[in-house]
Amino acid sequence: MGNLHGKVAVVTGGASGIGEATVREMAAAGASVVIADLDNLKGGALAADLRASGQTCNYHPVNVSREADVQVLVEETLAEYGRLDIMVANAGVNAPSPTVSLSLQAWHENLAVNLDGVFLSAKHAIRHMRQHGGGAVVITGSVLGHVGASGGVLPYAAAKAAVVNMARALACEYAAEHIRVNTVSPGYVMTPLLENLDSQAIERLVSLHPMGRLGKPSEVAKAIVFLASDDASFITGTSLLVDGGYTAR
Ligand SMILES: NC(=O)c1ccc[n+]([C@@H]2O[C@H](COP(=O)([O-])OP(=O)(O)OC[C@H]3O[C@@H](n4cnc5c(N)ncnc54)[C@H](O)[C@@H]3O)[C@@H](O)[C@H]2O)c1
Repeated sequence: MGNLHGKVAVVTGGASGIGEATVREMAAAGASVVIADLDNLKGGALAADLRASGQTCNYHPVNVSREADVQVLVEETLAEYGRLDIMVANAGVNAPSPTVSLSLQAWHENLAVNLDGVFLSAKHAIRHMRQHGGGAVVITGSVLGHVGASGGVLPYAAAKAAVVNMARALACEYAAEHIRVNTVSPGYVMTPLLENLDSQAIERLVSLHPMGRLGKPSEVAKAIVFLASDDASFITGTSLLVDGGYTAR
């Protein structure tokens, strides 16, 4: 499953959590992987770790909400590896706040990463892919892009719903140029994104999943690798829920 030999992949938010697991799975599947993140320490250490075990990987600092950063990321990936086959637009943030006390600035800051960052990553990857025979873009969405939730997640939920439909629109726009665009929508997954929650809040989240547990980063990463690989050659514009049944009830 998920043979990526000869492919070059960029994973935004690749230094931690689901992104880190995706970097590891993609490198193990034979891809050359660029970790694109704000966290120089973790990103650099992960790249060094993979290189030490014989895999091809490097770290590139990027803020996905800045167009110049994303453009340079793609240009330097091309300069280093000569191609770009896979863009995983995974970087995301969440700073929950009740809507009535959410400032417009905080709203914009969230959308800058979760929505603009996905747009910019897809745009600059696709600009290259369409000139070189195609490629695959996989976006990390969320169950919160499919169903509502309390807990002060308004901009996050709005952005995640938007990227699900962004993938559909991009899929239609670029299908004829052999570019597939899909979303993976995880349920709650134990990563640093949830580290500020107390044990009661975690238990509440667990209870929302019929499988009675949270997901593991590797379980989401495997779905991302599948959608990025030629095994998913007739799949575009879909959102694959990897959610332990969260949205099934
Ligand atoms: N953990 C969950 O329960 C869960 C559930 C559904 C969806 N997701 C989504 O999965 C994706 C990964 O989240 P995670 O749980 O692994 O979180 P995480 O916090 O472990 O990792 C996110 C990574 O993104 C990086 N990042 C943040 N802002 C960035 C920016 N502007 N530019 C570049 N990099 C940036 C961070 O430095 C970090 O390395 C996100 O899109 C998140 O919304 C997570």
